[in-house]
Amino acid sequence: MKKIVITGGAGFIGSHVVRLFVNKYPEYQIYNLDALTYAGNLANNEDVSKASNYHFIKADITDAEEIDRLFAEHKFEGVLHLAAESHVDRSITDPLAFVKTNVLGTVNLLQAAKRYWNGQFEGKRFYHISTDEVYGELHNPEEFFLETTPYDPRSPYSASKASSDHFVRAFHETYGLPTVITNCSNNYGPNHFPEKLIPLMIHNIMHNKPLPVYGKGENVRDWLFVIDHARAIDTVFHDGKIGDTYNIGGFNEWKNIDLVHLLCKIMDEKLGRPTGTSTQLITYVTDRAGHDLRYAIDANKIMKELGWQPSLQFEEGLEKTVDWYLTNEKWLNEVTSGDYQKYYTNMYQGR
Ligand code: NAD
Ligand code: TYD
Repeated sequence: MKKIVITGGAGFIGSHVVRLFVNKYPEYQIYNLDALTYAGNLANNEDVSKASNYHFIKADITDAEEIDRLFAEHKFEGVLHLAAESHVDRSITDPLAFVKTNVLGTVNLLQAAKRYWNGQFEGKRFYHISTDEVYGELHNPEEFFLETTPYDPRSPYSASKASSDHFVRAFHETYGLPTVITNCSNNYGPNHFPEKLIPLMIHNIMHNKPLPVYGKGENVRDWLFVIDHARAIDTVFHDGKIGDTYNIGGFNEWKNIDLVHLLCKIMDEKLGRPTGTSTQLITYVTDRAGHDLRYAIDANKIMKELGWQPSLQFEEGLEKTVDWYLTNEKWLNEVTSGDYQKYYTNMYQGR
């Protein structure tokens, strides 16, 4: 497989996948297809932007004609589909944007792959990157999400991702499209947009701003370092079984409030502030509507069948993440000021 399109490659996880593939597989041509919404940032791809096997295409997956045209022009043989609207809070205020990109956009890509590959599926692969949120929430502390757990999405975001997963499976069952799906737990790490919990808290601690904890902070999330997710994506893309699903996670559950306390401790140390300074910024705010109580992934299948393992302990990954934000203050400031959107104009003018 030589020509691979990665959708959403200017976003958080996508940029780590693009970096891994461009550097690890010089024999592949990597096409980063991204609409550069508020979440897309070409600064995330700056280090690979000059590589001879890297290409950027600004395109919107909701535009079916354009997606068809791009498949015909570039003859993609592999698809890694990450482009999505990804923030639960935004899905609560604007559910339709999530239907358009996550459902319609995914079906446009499936249709284009089906049309262009035209039954010649040898050496082709359509890989859909999804979330554990499709399984709903857990109440019993003994329970984990398995690949066989029935879907029970509870937010507009997770409902749209569940729907896109169903379409991917339907295209495999109905047309034989060579698909594979993974459902991953919450990611954290460098390049994470500061609307999500961990980068938002880091940003606010740096600037002495309140740390908004939803409800009582009792909700539990299962955190995985983004580079470990990218490594899992590489493994599944190459070795995953066609038509199959794999859950990805690091068996690493944290109550939000405990995680925020840990971040405060790490940041106080790094910033040379007296212990306890940042915890004073914690502010309990109105809970998110329909806030899922607990996510927890059972990742035994991918570990046993494909031999993938997370490489980092959480405390180590969190420290690396904090260090990245402290040394990349420019990135953070540009993202929070909106200046990052100038990158497209500067780097790709006239192309
Ligand atoms: P992100 O919001 O950081 O990035 C999304 C990217 O998709 C951006 O670059 C954006 O410009 C692009 N995009 C959005 N709409 C588009 C469109 N219509 N056409 C083309 N490009 C478009 O998201 P992320 O956190 O990196 O998540 C990537 C994928 O992984 C998503 O599918 C998400 O559901 C899934 N996922 C995320 C997590 C997580 O913790 N962040 C966990 C599991 C799965
Ligand atoms: P988030 O990073 O939005 O990921 P998701 O909702 O997809 O799991 O939120 C992680 C957890 O943190 C979730 O339980 C909501 C909570 N949260 C806060 O308490 N305060 C915040 O400001 C944000 C953004 C999230």
